[in-house]
Amino acid sequence: MTELTLHTKKVSRSFGSVAALKDVSLDVEPGERVALLGHNGAGKTTLFRIALGFLPADSGTLEVLGNRPGSREARKAISYLPENVAFPKVLTGKEIVSYYAKLKKAPVGDVRTALERVELAEAADRRCGTYSKGMRQRLGLAQALVGNPRLLLLDEPTSGLDPLSRQRFYDIVSEISNKGSAVLLSSHGLSELEARTDRIAILRHGKLVANAPLSELQKSANLPIRIRVRSTPDNVDHVHRHFGGQRLNGAMVEFKCAPPAKMENLAAIADLGNAIKDVELSPPSLDEIYRHFSAQEKPGRDS
Ligand SMILES: Nc1ncnc2c1ncn2[C@@H]1O[C@H](COP(=O)(O)OP(=O)(O)OP(=O)(O)O)[C@@H](O)[C@H]1O
Ligand SMILES: [Mg+2]
Repeated sequence: MTELTLHTKKVSRSFGSVAALKDVSLDVEPGERVALLGHNGAGKTTLFRIALGFLPADSGTLEVLGNRPGSREARKAISYLPENVAFPKVLTGKEIVSYYAKLKKAPVGDVRTALERVELAEAADRRCGTYSKGMRQRLGLAQALVGNPRLLLLDEPTSGLDPLSRQRFYDIVSEISNKGSAVLLSSHGLSELEARTDRIAILRHGKLVANAPLSELQKSANLPIRIRVRSTPDNVDHVHRHFGGQRLNGAMVEFKCAPPAKMENLAAIADLGNAIKDVELSPPSLDEIYRHFSAQEKPGRDS
């Protein structure tokens, strides 16, 4: 059996009356990309801080490659990109990455490779105070790449990045995981993650409310599909009576149906023959799925 890179079993942590984590069990295997989602204050950073050994858990077990958080072995295995990373403005990108490489006793060659990987090689000798937000985030990633980490903990690494930079960022994450490193990254939304992570874990008020690949979350959320039917103007009343929903304009009707009833509805639409001009299906958006998990409350599960 492969050794888990991160093993978390029933970890709880409170701050006074605030239960930041409640019985969280979350494993990450080598080469896996796991996204940790959750609202502000859901407990994402707290979990990272426990894994890093910065903060003890009140109860439960957390191991990094079988080692105690904060131990020499665990620290050597982890790279961390904190939320709101800030570097001294007067230092160049290369100086900053070199500093982290020294701390991790990584080979000097790692600095150049990391900077090239995040496309900062050309700006490497510029002071990072002159970098754009996206460049600063990439510099943060470069510092996390040195030393060949087995586990990358990235706390909201894409906040403030434009869509193209996000895409590039996830490409780099995939490259890293293809080489066998595990990546646990936190984020606020599902919509940026489509097909970019192997598994999605969602925290809600410190509890893990979902932990599955996106396709499974989509299925288990069982949210309705929206169907839009455009008919000839003289048939629109008939279509509306038949399927319910709402009329959008003189020729369009929109209604919702449960996923298992999709084919049955499509067959009924086809039966209307020439009265129907067009059909559009919209599956639930990723934002809707995320809202479903982060807002739902399972009776009896909250303490
Ligand atoms: N050192 C601390 N002292 C007191 N409360 C804390 C401390 N650290 C975290 N908390 C509380 O624990 C809860 C979880 O915080 P955490 O920072 O883990 O959330 P988060 O999911 O990272 O949120 P965000 O998306 O805003 O970064 C919050 O209610 C927070 O106020
Ligand atoms: Mg946080």
